[in-house]
Amino acid sequence: MIKKVYKANILYTKERSRFEILENGYVAVDANGCVAAVATDLMSIDCENAEMIDFGDRLLIPAMNDLHVHAPQYRNQGIAMDLELMEWLQNYTFPEETKYADTAYAERMYRRFVRDLWRVGTMRSCTFATLHTESTRVLMRLFREAGMGALVGKVGMNRTCPESLSEPVEQMVQGYESLIAEFNDPEGLVRPIVTPRFVPSCTPEMLRACGELAAKYQLHVQSHLSENRGEIALVRQLEPESTSYGDAYDRYGLFGQTPTVMAHCVFTEGEELALMKKRGVMVAHCPTSNLNVTTGIAPVRQFLSEGLLVGLGSDISGGHTLSIFQVMVYAIQMSKLHYQRDHARSFLTMSEVFWMATKSAGSFFGRVGSFEPGYEFDALVIDDRDLNHDHYSLLERLERFIYLGDDRQIERRFCRGREIPQPVSIPK
Ligand code: GUN
Ligand code: FE
Repeated sequence: MIKKVYKANILYTKERSRFEILENGYVAVDANGCVAAVATDLMSIDCENAEMIDFGDRLLIPAMNDLHVHAPQYRNQGIAMDLELMEWLQNYTFPEETKYADTAYAERMYRRFVRDLWRVGTMRSCTFATLHTESTRVLMRLFREAGMGALVGKVGMNRTCPESLSEPVEQMVQGYESLIAEFNDPEGLVRPIVTPRFVPSCTPEMLRACGELAAKYQLHVQSHLSENRGEIALVRQLEPESTSYGDAYDRYGLFGQTPTVMAHCVFTEGEELALMKKRGVMVAHCPTSNLNVTTGIAPVRQFLSEGLLVGLGSDISGGHTLSIFQVMVYAIQMSKLHYQRDHARSFLTMSEVFWMATKSAGSFFGRVGSFEPGYEFDALVIDDRDLNHDHYSLLERLERFIYLGDDRQIERRFCRGREIPQPVSIPK
């Protein structure tokens, strides 16, 4: 039964090549928080007892999905942006993550992180926590309390890292099982995701245990892949039997055996690319991070042409901005740099990056990221009056908001049909 009907200027991407645009359109949402209908004509919607909410001239768009972000790196946002990956990890990232042994510190920081995700309009995220089980639980509870969707990973690490960030395999498994016991609803908005940090930080035993956890509890998997040449050389040394970096994950059941997303894939090609395609492994493209920690330009056009699903990630704090709208801008700009070197591959368009951030990334969370019937109603109401000083078309208004706007224009946020108020950022 239809419960609510929202009227607004509606924009979304059913296909990556173009926007669906409904001027003064309607989205009908049912009692389960799912879209029942989307139309320009109210007559076509059976909504006799539904509540009507009129957003006037505002824009209504799907909410953002962040497919790769590190919650415990939030304090480091904007710091050490002149280093390369490995040096950045050792000198800034690992020391900060060590602090999450303290759950009070974790709560203080994670509250800020969840509030700011809300601010920038991200209603679903695929988030790395740290190896600390109790701090990870704090983050998961904060997401649940906020009503926002999240796949949260307790991070698997036991080699090539400081002693303080290394955990025995058995303890890692027990930690996961205790989180699974609390967040065990397969339909829940907040779920654990199996998260080996990357091959260099996990022994074969750790990788095997991660793969077994994913299979046993049917959990999603996330990690990093082919981000940096030094990292790739290290993987070749550590996993000499593997034919590619991706193959090293695949051998342990961590490459599409359950839904899997790999961040970066800057140097993914050939056999690794073919395996991703075969296994349906998703790419989290993180252009801001790739620029900041000096990795390179991911061949996103090729991924799309090959039929891989690509979403966008802020990768805080390799990336400097939490806003997926800003990440869209960088994705287009980076693809233009790529195009300047290789005219054979066209650069990304606005509808393509919008689709990546909404319907494509959303598919990792279920039926999320579109206003087609059956999709969960995750949405943002954009009041762009302060950016809208002339007669722009609806698409131009959306483009201007993406390029020039920020959280000041995001008036309301919905996740799975519910309006989400600002999460409390001060600990009780
Ligand atoms: N590879 C392993 N850990 C990390 C991390 O925290 N950030 C990035 N960008 N790459 C990684
Ligand atoms: Fe990352």
